[in-house]
Amino acid sequence: MTGSDPKPDFGSDRFPKPHYVPWAGLSAQDSEPWPEPLIAPDAMQPLSWDDGDPKIWQIFQTAVRDSYDLFTDVAWDELDPEAFTYEQRLGLAYWFTIDSVFEQAGTTVFARAMIGAYEEREEDGLRRMLQTIVRDEGNHDLIGKLVTQRLLPGFPYNFEPKTEMEWAAMRNVAWTQESVQRFWAGYKSAYDRYRFQVLLSSFASGEAVGTLTYGNLAKKSANPVFAQLMGYMAKDESRHFTVAAYLIRRYMPHMREDEVAAAVKNLGASYAYFSLFMASRPNPIFWGHLPDSWFQWHDKLEEHARSAGLAIASAEEKDDYWRQGLLRVKSITDQQGVEFLAIPELGIDGREMPISADDVLVVGL
Ligand SMILES: [Fe+2]
Ligand SMILES: [Fe+2]
Repeated sequence: MTGSDPKPDFGSDRFPKPHYVPWAGLSAQDSEPWPEPLIAPDAMQPLSWDDGDPKIWQIFQTAVRDSYDLFTDVAWDELDPEAFTYEQRLGLAYWFTIDSVFEQAGTTVFARAMIGAYEEREEDGLRRMLQTIVRDEGNHDLIGKLVTQRLLPGFPYNFEPKTEMEWAAMRNVAWTQESVQRFWAGYKSAYDRYRFQVLLSSFASGEAVGTLTYGNLAKKSANPVFAQLMGYMAKDESRHFTVAAYLIRRYMPHMREDEVAAAVKNLGASYAYFSLFMASRPNPIFWGHLPDSWFQWHDKLEEHARSAGLAIASAEEKDDYWRQGLLRVKSITDQQGVEFLAIPELGIDGREMPISADDVLVVGL
């Protein structure tokens, strides 16, 4: 593992938050005994009900307003399996499953972040806002499940492959899951290596590209159900990006140099992580272990999904979304006077820092 000091200074308060003990001092004025105050982070209570940062509280309220019910708000009848060829159904089931692998990972990553917010006795607004991100990422995975089970029941977890393409689709899903799973140990240990605030300052890239990717899928997909579902995801990711950008501005000025470097590396490493299906060329450091056939079948299956009315971006468009997304993030770190990571393959200038899988701290989609 790379990284800096072990989680260093819970006692010192370098980051702005109402880190406090409610009713501190009352026990001294009372003749009856009070318990000793519990010490964070090993004790997460007492928790305050103060809203906290008004901007975060407002984003939380927006998230509540933006909620949707995938069971009742979607005209599922309009997604007719009979309207597609067999290859198209397999291609769609495959694409939504691969997307869900990343959304599932995002759900657990943000669930861990939410626990971190409780452990650090963060303000009420931040804790609740993180709950809504967990909810959203879980919904995005549910979208994948509902589409896939409608079009190809059982795929991929209760499915017996028969054709060559079915074998390939399932093998590709298995490789993707195994690869994404490798990052979980890193996510967990990141909480021992870095302050919670550093981790919360490093997930903007995935949200930025998620906004652009799903937003364009919503705009360009011919099928109205796909357009509606992608619209939900784009709206959620856009809200997540607003949070991520705000947290960079809030926390980065209080970080040590090594913490800034870790956050910036993660902002760049996210590109390599999602490059598997969201860039023209998957990053070889992260994805070089996949068999060549993975990429050949992936392209074929994506093409089938595309022909079914899901407007999956071309290789050039994918890179363009990444470039735009990362430049949005870079503009925020630039404002902080922090040099962004150089990503030559996208034509983004910055600091040359080699990245490895260990640099992935927190990624969400
Ligand atoms: Fe997200
Ligand atoms: Fe998501």
